[in-house]
Amino acid sequence: MASLAIGIAACNNTEENKKETKEEMKTGIVKSDWGTTDGKQVYLFTLTNKNGAQVKISNYGGTITSWIMPDKNGKASSVVLGFDSLSGYLAKPPYFGATVGRYGNRIANGKFKIGNDEYTLATNNRKNALHGGLKGFDKVVWDASPTTDSVAALTLNYVSKDGEEGYPGNLKVSVSFSLSDNNELTIEYNAETDKPTPVNLTNHSYFNLTGDVSNTILDHVLMIDADHYTPVDSTLIPTGEIKAVKGTAFDFTKPEKVGARIDQVPGGYDHNFVLNRKDSSLQLVATLSDSLSGRKLEVFTMQPGLQFYSGNFLNGTFKTNDGKPINKHDAMCLETQHFPNSPNESAFPSTILKPGEKYHSVTKYKVSVQ
Ligand code: BGC
Repeated sequence: MASLAIGIAACNNTEENKKETKEEMKTGIVKSDWGTTDGKQVYLFTLTNKNGAQVKISNYGGTITSWIMPDKNGKASSVVLGFDSLSGYLAKPPYFGATVGRYGNRIANGKFKIGNDEYTLATNNRKNALHGGLKGFDKVVWDASPTTDSVAALTLNYVSKDGEEGYPGNLKVSVSFSLSDNNELTIEYNAETDKPTPVNLTNHSYFNLTGDVSNTILDHVLMIDADHYTPVDSTLIPTGEIKAVKGTAFDFTKPEKVGARIDQVPGGYDHNFVLNRKDSSLQLVATLSDSLSGRKLEVFTMQPGLQFYSGNFLNGTFKTNDGKPINKHDAMCLETQHFPNSPNESAFPSTILKPGEKYHSVTKYKVSVQ
């Protein structure tokens, strides 16, 4: 079965599947065994809403493995990259659908200071620390508690120990996913620590709204509500500058094709956008649409930044469930986050969580068909 184009029989609108549709389109959440790793049981949770949209999430890495939605012709397929078996994830794909932490994106040289204390992290991206280190939150088994079987919601909990991947403090994290009947996938992050520590949690879903990697995302039309972005050095660490997008290939304040100016960006887009926002409430920050499928994605967040990554390093190593190689620009990420390398940039919004404080952040992805 394909991941993009994952043929959930119950979601196909063909005559032969109509009976099955009735039986299987139960709303709520269904839990299935999905294998074991690290001596722990892994599950796959299927969240289904009353319109038949279906999101699958595993407690391995807090990973969204598929999001099935009909297109404008009623044909169902997944708008995100993912595998239908745990082994696909154990082969370490580049964070397909994963919950990323303790610190999403890069920290320069894997080093930072809090007060006079210097910390050294596991480095896993040339000289830098990326997405939480060698075994970040994307590679651990979370404790899972489906909320009830009639509401399509799931909460995952994980305790990241003091010193894990070099980070200070025991960090208790919970991530809740819920799917509304309006096709909104809401992800709520909460965390508490017993020592000051940087925290930057995000989801790393790769979208291709056509539901088929035979089409790249270069014709997707993107809007990002950001007048500024953070330029990067050759190792993708922000230079510290907050630069205006106006007149550059980074200006997505008006909807524009992803591929229209990508040739002007060496390597492709892999940049943090500084969102225009008045406060830290949940607000619409980006839209992505695709005319082939008629699908539209809206991204809402409380975070100050958005990493737009145009799938530049996808190189055919990983294949969809139906065997299609996943290549450069076959999918893209819109990762809601604090700015990369914030612990070393005092002018960036702080990512340090202190004991007694509560980390709380919500991101919502909404898919509609036009
Ligand atoms: C980063 C990319 C990286 C990708 C997969 C993105 O969040 O910005 O540079 O290649 O994740 O690890």
